[in-house]
Amino acid sequence: GMVRHYKFNVVMKNTTRLCSSKPIVTVNGKFPGPTLYAREGDNVLVKVTNHVKYNVTIHWHGIRQIRTGWADGPAYITQCPIQPKQSYVYNFTITGQRGTLLWHAHILWLRATVHGGIVILPKLHVPYPFPAPHKEVIVILGEWWKSDTEAVINEALKSGLAPNVSDAHTINGHPGPMSTCATSQDGFKLKVDSGKTYMLRIINAALNEELFFKVAGHQLTVVEVDAVYTKPFKTDTILIAPGQTTNVLLTADQGAGRYLVTASPFMDSPIAVDNKTATATVHYTNTVATSTITTTNPPPQNATPVASNFIDSLRSLNSEQYPAKVPSKVDHSLLFTVGLGINPCPTCAAGNGSRAVAAINNVSFVMPTTALLQAHYFNISGVFTKDFPGNPPITFNFTSSGPANRQTMSGTRLYPLAYNSTVQVVLQDTGIITPENHPLHLHGFNFFAVGRGLGNYIPKTSPKTFNLIDPIERNTIGVPSGGWTAIRFRADNPGIWFLHCHLEVHTTWGLKMAFVVDNGKGPNESLLPPPKDLPTC
Ligand code: C2O
Repeated sequence: GMVRHYKFNVVMKNTTRLCSSKPIVTVNGKFPGPTLYAREGDNVLVKVTNHVKYNVTIHWHGIRQIRTGWADGPAYITQCPIQPKQSYVYNFTITGQRGTLLWHAHILWLRATVHGGIVILPKLHVPYPFPAPHKEVIVILGEWWKSDTEAVINEALKSGLAPNVSDAHTINGHPGPMSTCATSQDGFKLKVDSGKTYMLRIINAALNEELFFKVAGHQLTVVEVDAVYTKPFKTDTILIAPGQTTNVLLTADQGAGRYLVTASPFMDSPIAVDNKTATATVHYTNTVATSTITTTNPPPQNATPVASNFIDSLRSLNSEQYPAKVPSKVDHSLLFTVGLGINPCPTCAAGNGSRAVAAINNVSFVMPTTALLQAHYFNISGVFTKDFPGNPPITFNFTSSGPANRQTMSGTRLYPLAYNSTVQVVLQDTGIITPENHPLHLHGFNFFAVGRGLGNYIPKTSPKTFNLIDPIERNTIGVPSGGWTAIRFRADNPGIWFLHCHLEVHTTWGLKMAFVVDNGKGPNESLLPPPKDLPTC
């Protein structure tokens, strides 16, 4: 591979959306930020310089970072933040991955505006396992608040209540032609030539919403998710959670004209409140800019059958060249409950003396003030404990009522894994407070989503339904509302690896934990030493 150098300058930029302006944190003044291009096998060096008043880190979401956990990016997990006026070079090599991923800030709520695409092309002369598209286009889905996003979450933490939902969803940074104060020519336009096929690299960079994505009048062929090839299948709607990426082929096989593109929330919860739809247009060449737009109705917000249908259609390609290496036996078998809770908060006036929290196995994770990876590497004691519970400490039963005790304990507790051991984690939604879909993201690994069901996971019978042949391989998975999903991976990457809900509000509330993976014995099985410019806390 070759060496690729990038410069990411974190700067403020005044930006106008929905007829109002505010300064936002950006990379290089762009929203969404610049796309990082590389090939499989390349060494990527990104010099991030912080010119804003906030501490900053950048995470390369889905890049495996084999032995280079120092470049992973989550603040206080693998590194101390880059302080104002400081810089840090993220140095990593892309190994065994090709496709679309995303980068984003991994501290505070800066991810709202500090994000962009990662395109990993296959090695030179290695074709895609599907017909090469005429063109490739990045499609980033996001959210926009009229007020400052740090103020939004700070207010929520003070009150103990949920933060305000965003004022709009966005497609490539714009709410689109159907939004307030837009004209029908506004928003992102995907220009297409009749008869040609395009690959959309769709990225969900929204903070708090899983989204449905649709193009009026057109079918989409899914060919890859989270930088892993899939068995191609056709659908008119895709479901994409924050942190997930999906490559689809779209053939311009309809009559010339303009067609509406929609991105709308999926939230199968009785307390769902956000139903704004972002729009864009597919624009055939030689079509007048003002011609009427062929529209489509996005699925309703609680369209669980549409969501399930999409999820059930996903399969790893599992070809000779790209085999699905599903662990067939399991060394660590874990059951993690994920969900919300309520803790006392004497100062939370608006929350009536209580505040919303979120937890895995009843542990609401407390961020340390020293980076865990540094504490691990330099043997600094007192920063974390290695006693994260492998099973729920409080019994729950989703199908009847949730546990009477909705309170969680707090701690910086990690789960230890031996190098190269195989791990199964059943992620079970507790449905405490409300059943809700949680997109869980694991750093440092891809996993296979071997099973999924509604209600309780039943150790005796549920595994009989597992797919161990060609399950989808990815880095972020939705735990179904009031149900469970089972994932498997091999712990072949030494270091400290974050697992958390990619709905930012839930991460803030504590729905996170980390694995600590030992070094292996072989020469290439240890965490590399930290880079010289690694920030200190
Ligand atoms: Cu995309 Cu830990 O994040």
